[in-house]
Amino acid sequence: MEYPKTNKALRFSSIGEDLKVVEIDVPPLLSTEILVKVHAASINPVDIQLWRSGIIGVVSGQKGMGRDFSGTVVSVGSSVQGWTAGDEIFGLLFHVFGEGTFSQYIRVNPSSDPVAKKPTGFTHEQAASVPLVALTAFSCLDWLPTVQQSPRRVVVRGAAGGTGSWIVQLAKAVYDCHVTAICSGRNAKYVSGLGADEVIDYTKEDVSATLRPQILNLRGAYVTIVGDKTNVKSLGGPITYLTSPAQILRFIKGWVFGPRYACVSLYSKSDLLEQVARLADRGEVQAEVQEVIEGAFDEREAWRKAVQMMEEKRVRGKVTLAIL
Ligand SMILES: NC(=O)c1ccc[n+]([C@@H]2O[C@H](COP(=O)([O-])OP(=O)(O)OC[C@H]3O[C@@H](n4cnc5c(N)ncnc54)[C@H](OP(=O)(O)O)[C@@H]3O)[C@@H](O)[C@H]2O)c1
Repeated sequence: MEYPKTNKALRFSSIGEDLKVVEIDVPPLLSTEILVKVHAASINPVDIQLWRSGIIGVVSGQKGMGRDFSGTVVSVGSSVQGWTAGDEIFGLLFHVFGEGTFSQYIRVNPSSDPVAKKPTGFTHEQAASVPLVALTAFSCLDWLPTVQQSPRRVVVRGAAGGTGSWIVQLAKAVYDCHVTAICSGRNAKYVSGLGADEVIDYTKEDVSATLRPQILNLRGAYVTIVGDKTNVKSLGGPITYLTSPAQILRFIKGWVFGPRYACVSLYSKSDLLEQVARLADRGEVQAEVQEVIEGAFDEREAWRKAVQMMEEKRVRGKVTLAIL
C-alpha cells in the first residue's frame, strides 16, 4: 500500500463550532507509530462533551472528533513489532487535543493506544463500535466485590446503550454473573438477546422498589460512569468527584460500612480488546450498530446526524460513521 500524501479529516478549533473538512499533508511516521486507513469510526457521548467543553480551549489549534476506529494498517514504523501493512485493526485513539478518528488516516502508537486485530466476524462498522464502550464495561465489572455466593448478581442501568450492552455481555461471558438489565420495553428483546437473565422496563415498573433488596445489600457495590451529574452534555467519570464532592464521602462511607461506591473511567488496555476479539470470533458477543451514517466528508455532514442521534439518548448499541 502506498503511503498517502494527504488526509481528509473533520476538525474544529473553538468550543462547539461546526466541524469542517480539512485536507492536510500526512506527516512521516515516527518509528513507534503505525498509519491506519480508517474505514469506520463510532461516536460516543464524550466526543460531544469534549467538543463543547472549555477544556479544549486550553490548547490552541485544530482538534479532531472521534475516538473509536476500525481500519487497515498502511505503514509501520521501524521499531513497531506485531503489525504489518494490510492488517485489519480496531482500537481507541483517545487524544483530547489531537487528531480524532473522523479522519481518513490516523497515526496510532500500538504501545500506548489500545488496539487489536479486528475480529474476523465483525464488519469494520461493528468493530469501530466496540473499543471505548467495551473498555468502560471492563472497568465497571472489575469493581464487582468478590462474594461467597456464585453467580454474582449485577444490575445494569442503560442496558440497551453502547456501554450498557457491553456490560451485559461481558458480565455473562467473562464475569459469570446473573444480570438484571434495565431498559425501555422496546429494547427488552434486544437486551435479553445479549444474555440478560431478567429485564426491567423502567417505563412500566418502579425500578427502585423492584430492586430494593439488592440495592440495600451492604456487601454490594454501586459503580457509575457518570457520577452524580444529570446532564449528558457534561463530562462524566472520576472528574465528577470534583464537581460533586458528596461522592467522595459516599466512596469513603462505602469502604467502611458498604455498599462500596465508585465512579470509574474506561481502561486503556490492548489485551482487553484482544479478549473481546476472541469472544467475537467465537460468537460469544455481538456488536449492535443501529445506523451506519454515510457522508463523513461531503455535504451530507454525517457528524451532525451522529451528534443529534446521541443527544436524543435513544440509540440502541452504537452509531458509526463510514469513512471513505
Ligand atoms: N466514565 C467513563 O469512562 C465513561 C465511558 C463511557 C460512557 N460514559 C458516560 O456514560 C453515559 C452513557 O454512555 P453510553 O455511550 O453508554 O450511552 P448511550 O449509548 O448514548 O445510551 C443510550 C441508551 O440509553 C438508554 N436510556 C436513556 N434514558 C434511560 C433511562 N432513563 N434509564 C435507562 N436507560 C436509558 C436508551 O435506552 P432506552 O431507550 O431503552 O431507555 C439508549 O439505548 C454517558 O453520559 C457517557 O458520557 C462514561
